[in-house]
Parts: sequence; C-alpha cells; structure tokens
Amino acid sequence: NKGMNGSGNPRDFIAKMKEGKKRLVIFYGSQTGTAEEYAIRIAKEAKQKFGLASLVCDPEEYDFENLDQLPEDCAAFFVMATYGEGEPTDNAVQLMQNFQDESFEFSGGERKLEGLKYVVFGLGNKTYEHYNSIGRTVDSELTKMGAIRIGERGEGDDDKSMEEDYLEWKDGMWEAFATAMGVEEGQGGDSADFAVSELESHPPEKVYLGELSARALTKTKGIHDAKNPYPAPVAATRELFQNTKDRNCVHMELNTEGSGITYQHGDHVGVWPSNPDVEVERILCALGLYHKRDNVIGIESLDPALAKVPFPVPTTYATVLRHYIDISAVAGRQMLGTLSKFAPSPEAEAFLKNLNTNKEEYHTVIADGCLKLGEVLQLAAGNDLKAQPTTENTTPWTIPFDIIVSSIPRLQPRYYSISSSPKLHANSIHVTVVVLKYQSIPSAHVNQKWVHGIASNFLLHLKYAASGETLSLINDSASATMPMYQIEGPRGAYRQEDIYKSPIHVRRSTFRLPTNPKSPVIMIGPGTGVAPFRGFVQERVALARRSVEKNGPDALADWGRISLFYGCRRSDEDYLYKDEWPQYAEELKGKFSMHCAFSRENYKPDGSKIYVQDLIWDDRTHIADAILNGKGYVYICGEAKNMSKQVEDVLARILGEAKGGSAEVEGHAEVKLLKERSRLMLDVWS
Ligand code: 2AM
Repeated sequence: NKGMNGSGNPRDFIAKMKEGKKRLVIFYGSQTGTAEEYAIRIAKEAKQKFGLASLVCDPEEYDFENLDQLPEDCAAFFVMATYGEGEPTDNAVQLMQNFQDESFEFSGGERKLEGLKYVVFGLGNKTYEHYNSIGRTVDSELTKMGAIRIGERGEGDDDKSMEEDYLEWKDGMWEAFATAMGVEEGQGGDSADFAVSELESHPPEKVYLGELSARALTKTKGIHDAKNPYPAPVAATRELFQNTKDRNCVHMELNTEGSGITYQHGDHVGVWPSNPDVEVERILCALGLYHKRDNVIGIESLDPALAKVPFPVPTTYATVLRHYIDISAVAGRQMLGTLSKFAPSPEAEAFLKNLNTNKEEYHTVIADGCLKLGEVLQLAAGNDLKAQPTTENTTPWTIPFDIIVSSIPRLQPRYYSISSSPKLHANSIHVTVVVLKYQSIPSAHVNQKWVHGIASNFLLHLKYAASGETLSLINDSASATMPMYQIEGPRGAYRQEDIYKSPIHVRRSTFRLPTNPKSPVIMIGPGTGVAPFRGFVQERVALARRSVEKNGPDALADWGRISLFYGCRRSDEDYLYKDEWPQYAEELKGKFSMHCAFSRENYKPDGSKIYVQDLIWDDRTHIADAILNGKGYVYICGEAKNMSKQVEDVLARILGEAKGGSAEVEGHAEVKLLKERSRLMLDVWS
C-alpha cells in the first residue's frame, strides 16, 4: 500500500485505479450494508463478464474532487441508497453535498464532468414518499455536469422487490456498458474470490467462534458501529404480553456502561443475531460438512480490493454458517443459478436452473414458500423438508466453501427503535420487540410452514436464557415450534461467565422531540410503534423533574400538551407498558394524555374495528389547533403501508377541513409542508 509509505495519497482513487489496472470505480452509499453488497456484486460481474477490475469505494474514504480525472476508458458507478425521508446514507452525506453545491469544483478547477461515463443503481423503499431520491439526484446532477449515463438508471425497491429489480435492470445495463466501453463478454471467467483452507494445528483459543469471541480476542474498543458491535450485557428482561400463549413481546434492557456508547431518544439500536440451530444443521448437512463442522478454517481474499473476508478468521465452518452469513433469508434467485453447477444429480441441477431462470416459478415456490437456502437444496435433491435435518435424510452437495462465502450475503444487524431515554436510563438501552412469526404460502412443491423472524426470535431466546426460565415454557405446540439458538456454547456463544450478552450498536436518527417543551406534541404509535414514544415520554419526564425541582410545582404550566395515540388488540393482552403510563402522566402534571384504541375489544356501532386514526379524527379540533396554531410536532411510528398511510390521510382530512378546504388539496399540502419543516416525522417499517 503506497499510501501507508507516504509516497501516495491514500484518498486518491484515480492513483489506486491506475496502480491496480482498474477501469471501474464503484461508489456506494450504504447504511446497513445492502448497497455495499450490490456494489461488490457489480464489481464481480464486471470481472466475470468482461475481465474488468473495479475499485469499490466507500465515498467517505476518497477524495471525490478527482472524479474529473477519470481516464476515458474508465467508468464510474454509483450504487446509492436513499434513507428515511429522502436522506443520503451517512457515508454519502459529503458526496451529495459536493454534487449539489453550485460552487463545488473538481480538481481541474471546474464543475464539469464532460464525457464521464457513469451508471446509477438506486436503492429505496416505495413506502416512503421520496422513493430513490438520492439515486435520482446523482443521476440528474451528473447529467447536468456533462457526464453520460450508460443504459437506464436502475432502481430497486427494498419494500418488496430489490433483488428482482436488480436482476431485471442489470442485463440491459451490461449490454449498454459493453457498447459504451467497447468491450466484449466472455473475456472474464469464473474466478474465485476467496481461498479456503483447513488448518491442521491451530491454538484453539485463537479461533473465532462468533461475535463475542471475536470481541474478546481483538479487545475492540473505540467507536461501536455497524462494523464493530459491542457485546452488551442483558441487564433486565421481561415479557410484555399477558394472557396469551402464542404471541410474545420482549422487553430487554442492554447495559452500555463503560462501553462509550451514547444514545438519544428516538435513535435505533442494531442487534446482531445469529442463525437458529435447525438452519445451521440443515446447511451443514446439505453441504456435506456436518462431520467437519468444527474444523478450523482459514479464508483468504484473492482480491482484497474487491472482496474482503467478511468476518474474522481463523474460524470454523459451523461458526461461519451460524454467525456470519445469512442462511435464514429467502434464497436469492441468482444464487440458485450459481449453485446449480454443484448439484448432486442432473434432476437437482435442472430444478435449480429452472428456479433461476423461471421468475414465476421462483416466486411461487421460493419467495411465497419462504424457503431458505438449505431448504432449497434439500427440496432440489428430493429430501423431506419437514424432518429434522440429519446426514441420513439430507443429500450432500459439493459446493466449494469459497462459493458459499461469496454468494451468500453477510448476516446483517436488525434495527429497533430504542424505547428508553438516556435522561432516565443513561447506561442502558431498552428495546421492545414483538416476536415475528407468520405462515408461508404453500405451493405444489412445499406445504405451508411457520416462518420465524431471525432477530426477534434470537432475542426471545436470549431472554429465556438470561432470565433462567425454562425452554419448555416457550414451546407453544398450538401454533409453531420455536426455533432454538445456540446461546450457551463454545466459549459462551452469548454468555461470558454468567453474563448473557447481545452484540449491538447505535444508529443515530433525526426522530427527536422539539427542544422547547411549550410546543405541543402528537405521537402516533400502535403496537410496537409505541417504542420510541416511551423514550420520548421518559425524556419529558426527566425534564419535568428538573423543572419542578428548580421552579416549583407550577413549572410545567406553560408546557404544550403531549398526546400519545396508541393501539393494540386488547387492554388485558398486548397493552405495552400498561402500568408505566399512569406514573408518567402523574409526573407530567396533566400535560400528558393517552388515547388507546383496543381493536378487538371495542367496536364501532357497525361492528368495524376502532384504530388510532379513528381516535385522531375524534380529537380533530385539538389536533388542528395544536398543529396550525400551536406549531405542534407530529410523530408516526409503526407499520408503513397501511397504518402510517391511513394516519397521514386522516391528518390531511383534519388539516384540510380546518383550513376550509379539502383533504386532497389543502390537507395534503399542509402535510407536505409539515414534513418539509420536520414537524411531521416518520419512523416506519414494512
Ligand atoms: P388488529 O390486529 O386488530 O387489526 C397493533 O398491531 C394494533 O394496530 C392492533 O390493534 C391492530 O389491530 C392495529 N392495526 C392493524 N391495522 C391497522 C391500521 N391499518 N391502522 C391502524 N391500526 C391498525
């Protein structure tokens, strides 16, 4: 590395490209790692198809000013995620500023990129209004500066069809790319990204066996982020649902004392799960690695610029499959094509090839059936999916392990809205997690089955281990068999001494209360959407205590009203933090009001359900006044597609009416304005 020797600038990507004979530079704006993975895939495809090498760049690490120096036979790719309400990802903030700043100049002294060849793939979520706005902005700004786009701009919808959108886009793009660059397909080849070797003798204490052992071995300190989680002890945990056996909601308090981790109300916490036992065993059997599962392996990257080994090594097969790669996700269509070459029989090969090329078939059998990779391999080989996987009932495939590492995405952290305030809980982060399980859609090939969310079930399991409750409690035979996780295990998978830990890191958000407590606040959060609002209310409680202490009992007299609209099924079942709210209300001295919609308890006269939006409508006089006259703030958290949309609609109706107009015109304009001014904020998920 020249930069390290001081003989070159490590932030100069042009120099790096020349040095490595690379003709593509691929920038990615990535928050959770998805865009980065697509950037790497594009790099790999360029190499396979055309034999062209790429430099995959985190824009934060390079000087963007050099873009105008890109040689003519090169091309620039931008794989850009749009985050939240049309915002760039953290690592692309500077890049976007440069793009949009009229006074910005490239190193040639001009704001011009005449003739620069570029490709854009945007990643967004259609449930948000500013769908893919970052990708679109990059595209339009580049065009304005004289750059020339290769092919169409690609756009992927994270809500449902990211993979399909990418696959549909890329072939046309590569065709246009070949023409624009004057290259031909077939010049590349299937080269491996990694070399995997089994290590004969290795000191067992130096082998990485998961995140906790990695942190213990490397003693990682410093900033805990999406690349460096902190193993946080479980300080307290409890079940939040009552009187129900087949649904769970986990409250967990994670101790951050001494970690250097800080947070604000409204931030998110990333939880790093592992794969459940059954999937680890299934894939070990399907790869013929069951008896070798604890063998120590080393993995080396054959092209470190393109593919970093995505986890610490040396490790074991079982560790990689349990902790580091996502074998719990629905198997991707492209991956099936790659793996078909290693099928144990011509039938199995044909089966995977068909799934790879036949989109409809893939959709009904794999996507609707929610089949994970291990299950697809079993199905293709004619194995019984329902049986507990063993070496006897599972046909082994001889897939080289480097192919597994490079074709299956890395297991990603899952993000939850933090449900506490640091003002009341400086050293702990609370999460409120409903345990996800649902049934798949059956097809001619597979029966209906239960699908379990990986991280929420992991947390449920950790809860049971940490609280010492027995596992028999959670096997609710009525509906589904709970997946088991290795919580205790080699060098304490999630336990060190007697402390249970979960790897976490904090992700900042802009979901925050106004600083002035005089502003009225309206919070809408049914179900676990209430999580951040528990943090908001705690934040205000802390402020109230201080104000009362300083200025006496009337200190809150001029505070704005804080209203929480909450919804759940029944007051005696899934009413989250039921006994806490009255205490908060008391401390907030009449400024806090709670409005609850119990959707399976009280009904409208016509028998239909009462939801939060109905309560908002009932309270419209106050709401319109708080927003229009009181400069109030509105927050929505929870499910995006139905709830959040319907709440926005009812707000538009209320505001439209209050302004003497209609919901469609004046109402929606007002909602839009509120969003632009950050007085209507969303923290929603699909
Ligand atoms: P339901 O399950 O009885 O339909 C938390 O999940 C609460 O949100 C439940 O009471 C649920 O009601 C309710 N809910 C479901 N769909 C909703 C929607 N579109 N808008 C508002 N609340 C909804």
